[in-house]
Amino acid sequence: MADSPLAAPTAPTFYFIGVTTGQSSSQRMFPLWMEALGRPEVVWRGVDLPIHADPERYRQVVAHIAEQPLALGALVTTHKIDLLAAARDLFGELDPYARRTDEVSSIAKEGGRLVGRATDPVAGGLSLDAILGVDYFARTGGEVLLLGAGGSAAALSLHLLQKPHPGDRPRRVVVVNRSAGRLARLRQMVEQFDTDIRFEYVQNERPQRNDELLAALPPASLVINATGMGKDTPGSPLTDDARFPQNGVAWELNYRGELDFLRQARAQRTARSLTVADGWDYFIHGWSQVISHVLAVEIGPEMLARLSQLAADVR
Ligand SMILES: NC(=O)c1ccc[n+]([C@@H]2O[C@H](COP(=O)([O-])OP(=O)(O)OC[C@H]3O[C@@H](n4cnc5c(N)ncnc54)[C@H](OP(=O)(O)O)[C@@H]3O)[C@@H](O)[C@H]2O)c1
Repeated sequence: MADSPLAAPTAPTFYFIGVTTGQSSSQRMFPLWMEALGRPEVVWRGVDLPIHADPERYRQVVAHIAEQPLALGALVTTHKIDLLAAARDLFGELDPYARRTDEVSSIAKEGGRLVGRATDPVAGGLSLDAILGVDYFARTGGEVLLLGAGGSAAALSLHLLQKPHPGDRPRRVVVVNRSAGRLARLRQMVEQFDTDIRFEYVQNERPQRNDELLAALPPASLVINATGMGKDTPGSPLTDDARFPQNGVAWELNYRGELDFLRQARAQRTARSLTVADGWDYFIHGWSQVISHVLAVEIGPEMLARLSQLAADVR
């Protein structure tokens, strides 16, 4: 089928592997970015897979990119862990972050080999730093509630673990996840570090329990929705009765979808002096990191500002 995502490409092609890729701003943004980067011949192609897809589907997609000469590489969202678990042997090289977190968000080709990178620790880290500012945890005494223990939760944990200045590290991070496997995986990564951050792991999928964990946080704590709920799946990990911490920060990793968690946070923004952020900056950093890797182009601060503006124009 000519319009199948895995039909042989007829132009240099950049793949976007996600759940509902057709609804992403990236489809509109991509041609503008290629024009700005001097690569207008490169086209965008979305590959939609269900969450926790059959490993064979991941292998087919990765093998397709490896085998097709016009397939340049891919950005992977949501499937970062499952894809690597299913297709690790198809990669010629993995960068240190991919090895640490056992996930890939960027697939490029170098000398005929597939090179996987985890760009989220950098992209998510840049976004988080911009939201919090320097010395946030020393200034405020806030802690972190990380809802979800998937790829981006691991990346953000890694970012916090590697913060050189103590004031940028929270005292405590509580991580909540539905399946035990993802929590065990995250714990295994955290235990490779000699850290003063206390990680606590809670297996739970009941929003009422998350409300309780939220209520137990000190003021100024950071709450992150890294579950994909409100975009990949319906709802929010919290109930509408949840109370965000006074002077806290609520960060929804997505920028599109129903975004129920963002709505809940915005409803308390004034009353509880919340800082509320969505995933737009994360999206821009993530895409620029992966495009730089796949197309082997430098994207400096000036170009990043230009790309960011182009994306905002078609958001
Ligand atoms: N703005 C951006 O550019 C950007 C960048 C990165 C990520 N994101 C978004 O952030 C979300 C997470 O990404 P990801 O790569 O980390 O995905 P992921 O690897 O699929 O992780 C999601 C995790 O949340 C858990 N979860 C789902 N529903 C839950 C619930 N009700 N209670 C507790 N845990 C629950 C899942 O647990 P199970 O193991 O039980 O499935 C899974 O471990 C996605 O929607 C993605 O699109 C956005």
